[in-house]
Amino acid sequence: MRLQHKVALVTGAGSGIGRATAELFAKEGASVLASDINETPVAELVDAIRDEGGKAETVTGDVSNSTDAKTIVDTASELFGRLDIVINSAGVSARNALGSSATPEEIWDRVIEINLKGTYLISWYAAEGMVKDGNGSIINLASIMGIVGYPQWMNQPFNPYPPSKGGVVQLTKNMAIALAKDGVRVNCICPGFVWSNLTELLTSDPETLRKLEELHPMKRLGQPEEIANVALYLASDESSYVTGSSLVVDGGYTAR
Ligand SMILES: NC(=O)c1ccc[n+]([C@@H]2O[C@H](COP(=O)([O-])OP(=O)(O)OC[C@H]3O[C@@H](n4cnc5c(N)ncnc54)[C@H](O)[C@@H]3O)[C@@H](O)[C@H]2O)c1
Repeated sequence: MRLQHKVALVTGAGSGIGRATAELFAKEGASVLASDINETPVAELVDAIRDEGGKAETVTGDVSNSTDAKTIVDTASELFGRLDIVINSAGVSARNALGSSATPEEIWDRVIEINLKGTYLISWYAAEGMVKDGNGSIINLASIMGIVGYPQWMNQPFNPYPPSKGGVVQLTKNMAIALAKDGVRVNCICPGFVWSNLTELLTSDPETLRKLEELHPMKRLGQPEEIANVALYLASDESSYVTGSSLVVDGGYTAR
């Protein structure tokens, strides 16, 4: 097992990439603290992990709220005595951030708050303990949209999602440089379009799905498990010399 004796916090563990990562990490021997803003899905996940013989606990909270973020991180040490790995997977798109009555400015604030500030807050509190321990791996879910823009046909000039993910790419690099001397590695993953709740509004329309598949040279969207496998590499000691990287996992999208 590749994560034996490690403690991993996974935010956004209630769905999609976070859920797949929490399940995989538990199978690889990690003690998992599964966190989400929604209680029911993480409670179900923890039951499923325990049924398979894995170790998991849950804590709920909003990563964009400073008090919640500190509580989430502190809970890992309280329950498991340490924290080795953080997966910042909690995130929203502009499509699902708020209800249909929200203004563009409210959507902008919420997306930046969750995707960028939430990653910053969780990392900030986690890094404190990791620096003391001289060990840690922080993995941020950025996106190919942190590197390239939306395709022209989507017509999204002011969508806050790409800027939020570009911010995560830069936060990752800056943290990696500063924390390298303390034994803490910081990397991000930039997935292409992946099947999950986040993309449901796009994939439920057959024409949009076809156009999205066409943008990926592999002619398909990714599965959450394919992102979790990369997170496993970055979390494990196999990536001991990897820090500050933005690992593209996109079926060839950005190679075009
Ligand atoms: N699905 C994709 O195509 C894709 C592509 C690139 C990057 N990503 C990124 O990967 C991450 C995971 O995405 P996903 O596809 O699994 O999405 P998802 O919607 O399936 O899961 C996101 C989870 O985050 C939780 N969450 C939302 N706001 C939160 C908050 N304020 N505090 C705590 N939890 C919160 C949700 O409840 C949900 O369980 C996100 O950061 C997303 O931007 C996704």
